[in-house]
Amino acid sequence: MDNFIYQNPTKLIFGKGQLDVLPNEVKQYGTKVLVVYGGGSIKRNGIYENVLAKLKEIDAEVFELPGVEPNPRISTVRKGVEICKREGIEFILAVGGGSTIDCTKAIASGALTDVDMWDVVTKKEQPGDALPFGTILTHAATGSEMNRGSVITNWETNEKHGWGSPNTYPKFSILDPTHTFSVPKDQTIYGIVDMMSHTLEHYFHPATNTPIQDRFCESLLQTVIETAPKLQNDLENYEYRETIMLSGTLALNDMLSMGAHGDWASHNLEHAVSAVHDIPHGGGLAIIFPNWMKHVLDDDNAWRFKQLAVNVFGVNAEGKSDKEAALEGIEHLRAFWTEIGAPSRLKDYNIDESSVEEMAEKTVAARSEYGNFKKLTKQDSIEIFKASL
Ligand code: NZQ
Ligand code: ZN
Repeated sequence: MDNFIYQNPTKLIFGKGQLDVLPNEVKQYGTKVLVVYGGGSIKRNGIYENVLAKLKEIDAEVFELPGVEPNPRISTVRKGVEICKREGIEFILAVGGGSTIDCTKAIASGALTDVDMWDVVTKKEQPGDALPFGTILTHAATGSEMNRGSVITNWETNEKHGWGSPNTYPKFSILDPTHTFSVPKDQTIYGIVDMMSHTLEHYFHPATNTPIQDRFCESLLQTVIETAPKLQNDLENYEYRETIMLSGTLALNDMLSMGAHGDWASHNLEHAVSAVHDIPHGGGLAIIFPNWMKHVLDDDNAWRFKQLAVNVFGVNAEGKSDKEAALEGIEHLRAFWTEIGAPSRLKDYNIDESSVEEMAEKTVAARSEYGNFKKLTKQDSIEIFKASL
């Protein structure tokens, strides 16, 4: 294992009816509250009304920032920063999915600095302190509710970058599985692909002696694979929703990366795709990940792919080379995602060869090589994108 320090300060509040604790949690930080949310799903499913009623119990002075886009924009972050500074906001409450939470992290940080947040997102400036914020998660996918990461898009320059700091962990996150009942089938599937991809990113690492980490990843994947098809046909099933919700959080709250640095090349590739084409993150990953796997598979690392194939997909490796078993496992993953309705080709989003060069350039804009399991260059990006068309 690699040496590591693990510290995750987010208080996780999980289960049906847990919104009741909201007033107590918020009032420790103040009563001037900015509520940040997306395109309106929380108004349609009643969560908005319930949240405002809870904030009323502490006589909170509530300000609102609606309209956070999926793949949240820096322009929306700037609007939020402006409200915080103008109104002297004391606490920010994100109500929504990863996009709303990521936007909130950037607003919280931007509120306490005169630096433009795009310079922080692009790492020209260091992030400083942040306003305290909490989240009410309505979509199981990113794990943003219990990590420090935030992914922001600049639509003027077609760039999408991740950033984060020790100050961008939520103070608390309330996870009530019933809040995800109204997530439509396609978004539910994108979320499932995303959490599986996070687990796979952790799984493909160069560290040695990581049996606990590997078994954690494998059991998380198995559980999601067992649950997803049932949930797909029963979207308001509490038990399926709660299993998927907890899976999403555990897949990216840094627990799986204790002692091992995961790969993250597939995420870099997907962020380049959605920076140019604004497609759903999980949809992009379903296309890219199996092609990344095929691209990096070689004789030295095939044992790890085989381990995944055997332990997660039940591939019988007898009489097969590691590479043969590995390839069977990759096909199982692809087939599983297709079965639950995820896309498998970039052309499903009308993306063709003409944007391969632009997307590939973005994968190496920040550095000439990327990926921890196997180092990749722009030429690798081109090949993976071409295989994904
Ligand atoms: O905007 P509203 O109206 O709320 O609708 C959203 C949105 O259209 C809808 N939705 C959410 N909860 C709902 C609901 N619809 C009905 N009922 C509910 N209860 O779902 C749609 C997608 O929401 P969004 O927040 O965009 O999805 P997700 O949670 O997948 O977040 C995606 C963003 O997170 C980034 C992605 O790149 C993307 O920008 N990521 C963030 C990470 C992190 N912070 O750690 C890691 C990830 O790898 C990822 O990159
Ligand atoms: Zn992701």
